[in-house]
This record gives sequence, structure tokens and C-alpha cells, in this order.
Amino acid sequence: MNICVIGSGYVGLVTGACFAEFGMQVVCADVDADKVASLESGEIPIYEPGLDDLVERNVRQGRLSFTTATPEAVRNSLVVFIAVPTPPRPDGATDLGAVEAVAREIGESLNGYKVIVTKSTVPVGTSRRVRDLIQEELDAAGKAAAFGIASNPEFLREGAAIQDFMRPDRVVIGADDDASLGILRDLYRPLFLNETPFVITNIATSELTKYAANSFLATKISFINEMANLCERVGADVQLLARGIGLDGRIGPKFLHAGPGFGGACFPKDTRSAAHFAREVGESLEIIEAVIRVNQEQRARMVDKIAGALGDDLTGATIAVLGLSFKPETDDMRDAPAVDIIRGLQARGAHVRAFDPVAMPRAGELLPDVTLCKDAYEACQNADALVLVTEWNQFRMLDVERVRKLLRRPVLIDLRNVYEPGSLREAGFDYVSVGR
Ligand SMILES: NC(=O)c1ccc[n+]([C@@H]2O[C@H](COP(=O)([O-])OP(=O)(O)OC[C@H]3O[C@@H](n4cnc5c(N)ncnc54)[C@H](O)[C@@H]3O)[C@@H](O)[C@H]2O)c1
Repeated sequence: MNICVIGSGYVGLVTGACFAEFGMQVVCADVDADKVASLESGEIPIYEPGLDDLVERNVRQGRLSFTTATPEAVRNSLVVFIAVPTPPRPDGATDLGAVEAVAREIGESLNGYKVIVTKSTVPVGTSRRVRDLIQEELDAAGKAAAFGIASNPEFLREGAAIQDFMRPDRVVIGADDDASLGILRDLYRPLFLNETPFVITNIATSELTKYAANSFLATKISFINEMANLCERVGADVQLLARGIGLDGRIGPKFLHAGPGFGGACFPKDTRSAAHFAREVGESLEIIEAVIRVNQEQRARMVDKIAGALGDDLTGATIAVLGLSFKPETDDMRDAPAVDIIRGLQARGAHVRAFDPVAMPRAGELLPDVTLCKDAYEACQNADALVLVTEWNQFRMLDVERVRKLLRRPVLIDLRNVYEPGSLREAGFDYVSVGR
């Protein structure tokens, strides 16, 4: 089966490479000519564990290729995935400009029956809008061509994307007609054989399921962060509290880690988008609105926490920050808590030295006033405090004796509760964490 994936970013590239691995003939299309050129020369423009090998193998075996010529890629495919960005507008609404542009391009290129699948995260009604735009283009050209539309939201996590795509907890497909559904079932057959659960539904349910999933996970994070804040007031320990509730099978232990709040390209924008499109249809998602507020306040609280550990005055202080990507195992810095926290520290007069294992190139563009260091220890040199923001594995076992000697003051603020308070205090640190 020939397929094309339009948009070759975190989702599109992983989707394309994994379908190629299943044996499909895949073309990944993108408007970014530099990105396509680097992919063609064997360079992977993002950091995602295992993706370089997967892409290299499938390109070498002739099943995966890249192009800027979207119309040609569409014409040669039976299934067309849309995996372009759906960024937030200032009011929280989703900017569907890229999805709509691609829909029109597909309409202009259609030369026979195809299934057009929305994989981007989109508000309810968008896949129908894709259908209308394709039809408009066909009508304008005086052409007739049959096509089906479907929604197939993506649930992969950056940092574990390949595993998540190959062995997903579930696949959700929304389709209105049997032909489209039959073709998608065929495409996903390798997963059916692995006994992956499939949720087959209508398009609106499929589109909304993605927002419900991300909003629910974000809710767990804001919930545990509120509990952490309360723990600090009453002398309780949020780590043990999380264990105490997480062992209840109805609750589960995942996403109950107190910290600086959620970030990244998905949770912040998807919660705001869900709240926004619900308001537009006359419903108010009170829980999600609160989750968003709590998350924003949590970042400001982290800045207060760091300032508090240094006597509330950060003027002229130097702060070492470890971990800049929004979570470990990715270079993605979109809406990363580290960015707001660093800007908050700078606004209070602090100078920041920072290190991240893979996000340094992006950090340099986003945070021009930060001194970027070559490793964790260089960041600590002559700093007044060390702040751990993103829990990369290499920060879990720092040589704390060396860190203490490098710092001007022995202050360690651990926003991910990675270290044991007792042992850090024994090692001579003023140790501050979240909710303990
Ligand atoms: N990143 C994730 O973890 C994740 C997970 C699930 C769902 N999603 C959703 O998937 C979608 C894509 O996200 P992403 O993180 O892969 O974005 P991304 O920014 O990494 O990649 C998008 C790609 O689309 C390309 N593009 C933009 N306009 C285009 C056009 N008109 N034609 C062709 N290519 C175009 C861009 O150049 C870019 O390479 C979003 O809706 C996002 O919410 C993302």
C-alpha cells in the first residue's frame, strides 16, 4: 500500500518511518525544504531515540522517501495522513491554517479514490472541514473524484515515540464510511495481529478522544501539584501521598509526580484548545480551565521557591539550571517550564547558566541571555544555587560533593524530587524540593 504523510515533524516522521517498517511504501512530505534536504542526506532534524536507525534502514531498503512535492506524493498514494502543526492562537483557539492549506492542496491534487486521514490534533469538526475544502477545490476545478475522510489521532510520547507507535495502548479511528475504515484496518493490520485494542467510532468522538486523553493526564499533573503545595503548608510528603493514592488501582501511579507543571507541544495547547472549543459550543469545561490556571501558577511558584531558597533577593545572583527540554529524552522546548522559569529568574535580576544533554541548540535560540555550558559541572561553577528542572537520567546521580565545591553557596533546588532530602542535607546542602 502506498501512503503519504504530510508534515514530517515529531509525529509525521515517526508515523512514516513506522509504517515503512511495517512494509508500506511511504513518502513523507514537508514544506520545509531544509528539513527535507537534511532527511534526504540521512540527517534526522529532531532528537528521538531510535528514529535515526529506523529511518536509515527503511530509506536504504527503498520503502521510505522524502519530498517537498506534496501534490505528487498525494497522487501516488491511497492513504494520505495530515500531520502538520496545529499551534495555539493567543486566545487558546487552534490555528488550523496549516491543516486547511494541506486540505486545499490535496483537493487540487486528487486523481482518484483516496482516504484522507487527520492525524494532527484538531478540534471537533476539523476533519469535516477538511472534506469540505477538498470538495471545494474539486468543484472549482470542475473535477469529480471520490474520497473518504477519517480521524486517527496520535497518542505517542516524545522520547518513547517508536515504541508507542509500534505497541500502542490503543488505536482510535473515526470514520463515517466502510470503505475508509476497511482501508485503515488493512493499514493497521500489523497491530491488529499484536492484539492492540482498536476503538472504532465516528469522527467527532475520535477527534474529541485525543483532547479528553491529554486533558485527563494534565489534570492528574495539576492535581498532584496542588496537593504538593498543600503538603508544603501542612508538613506532609507528596511523594508518599502519591504512592498512597497511586497504589489504588482505580487511580494508578502514573502522572502523579509533583514538579514545575506540564509543558511541551501538546498538553498546554490541547487543554486550552479543548476549553476554547467547548466554550464556543456553549459548554464550559470547569475542570480543564482550573487545570490550566494551576499549571500556569505552578511555574511562577517555582520561581518564588528558587528565590526563597536564596533569601528572596535574586539581584546579581547566578543560578545554574539543569534540564531545558520540556521532559527528558527529547530536544523539544515548546512551552517548556524551564523557559518560563529562567525568564522569571532573569526578571528578578539573576544570571542563568544552563546545560541540557540535547536541547542546547534550541535553547540558544530561545534564551539568548543564558550562558550555555558544556556539562552539569560547568553550569555549577560559581553559581549561587543549582536548580534541577528536567530529570534527565544523567542528572540523577550527580557527584554531589563536586557540585557543592563548585557552587558559591550549597543550595540545591530539586524541582523533580529526584534526590533524597536527608542525604543531600547530610552532604551539606540547603536542599529544597517540591511538596516534601
Ligand atoms: N509532538 C507530539 O508529541 C505529538 C503527539 C501527538 C499529537 N501531536 C499533534 O501532531 C501534530 C503535529 O505535531 P508535531 O509535533 O509533529 O509538529 P512539528 O512541528 O514537529 O512538525 C510539523 C511539520 O509539518 C510541516 N508543515 C507545516 N505546514 C505544512 C504544510 N502546509 N505542508 C507540509 N508540511 C507542513 C512543518 O514544516 C513541520 O516539519 C500537531 O497537531 C500535534 O498537536 C503531536
